[in-house]
Amino acid sequence: MQRIGVVTAGGDAPGMNAAIRSIVRMAIFHGLEVMGIERGYMGLIEGQTRPLSPRSVSGIINLGGTILKTARCEEMKSSRGIQKAVDILKTHRIEGLIVIGGDGSFRGASELHRASELPVIGVPATIDNDVAGTDTTIGFDTAVNAALFAIDRIRDTATSHERIFVVEVMGSKRGFLALEAGLAGGAEFILVPEIEYNLQDICKKLKQGREKGKTSEIIVMAEGAGNSSFIVDQIRKETEYEVRLTVLGYIQRGGPPTARSRILANQFGAYAVELLLKGAEKRMVGIKGQKIISVDLDYSWKQRRELDTRLYRLAEILSA
Ligand code: F6P
Repeated sequence: MQRIGVVTAGGDAPGMNAAIRSIVRMAIFHGLEVMGIERGYMGLIEGQTRPLSPRSVSGIINLGGTILKTARCEEMKSSRGIQKAVDILKTHRIEGLIVIGGDGSFRGASELHRASELPVIGVPATIDNDVAGTDTTIGFDTAVNAALFAIDRIRDTATSHERIFVVEVMGSKRGFLALEAGLAGGAEFILVPEIEYNLQDICKKLKQGREKGKTSEIIVMAEGAGNSSFIVDQIRKETEYEVRLTVLGYIQRGGPPTARSRILANQFGAYAVELLLKGAEKRMVGIKGQKIISVDLDYSWKQRRELDTRLYRLAEILSA
């Protein structure tokens, strides 16, 4: 193997740049050439590539986003798109591909491998943490901390005005981000798509809490757990307390990666290169406990990662 490619695909995540840097420097250390593919799978289909050197990845370890840029790409979901991508990889003499992204990107990567037989390695990076086969993903810790930063500030004003705040966090269709940010922020309620909730019940508990001396509450809800404006209206009607909504949005996806996200990116990137050199065909790198591991790439998007319901229950008990 002489030349490998690296692409960031799907939503960006803080730490993607640290992963690019790790891949480039580890690959060059082993005598490989690295081509960066720009703008995700869209750029791959259009042949947007550039060589990457150790110097071209200087000063990026601390930057959020991705220097390679990224995009959502519908065309990669069709066999025509896949074939175009395969042709570009072959024309550019790319003999192995590392895809930094989430489960959707890994589905495309698996198709790419099937159509080309080129080795493909996935590096999980998404703020949603919804990838099976790894305890955590690059960017998740940073997003949890970004949400927590906001929740702590909202707590101050909620307390002062004796209000209820609903804080909507990202996470796509899953509740990993809401659960960890909610637990760390001491939220009174956490709403996630994986666990059913009853608004009447929540309102009843809010009233009981006030009777017992609570004067303000934070409800952290995942974007996939319902319509936050509707929920705010319902709570306001049912309880007659003052309720406010804050939608955190894309602020959770940017900013410098935390040490945890950077360290993971360094480890994942380097291991992805090592797997290619060892002759791996179709793997995703991950972490289990303290150990860097790899799983079949298909597992990462075919399996559903389970939410830790014990953590959810703990947050419930501690919110008393
Ligand atoms: O997957 C990351 C994520 O930020 C989700 O949390 C969110 O639902 C989605 O991407 C937003 O997608 P887009 O960047 O296409 O608006």
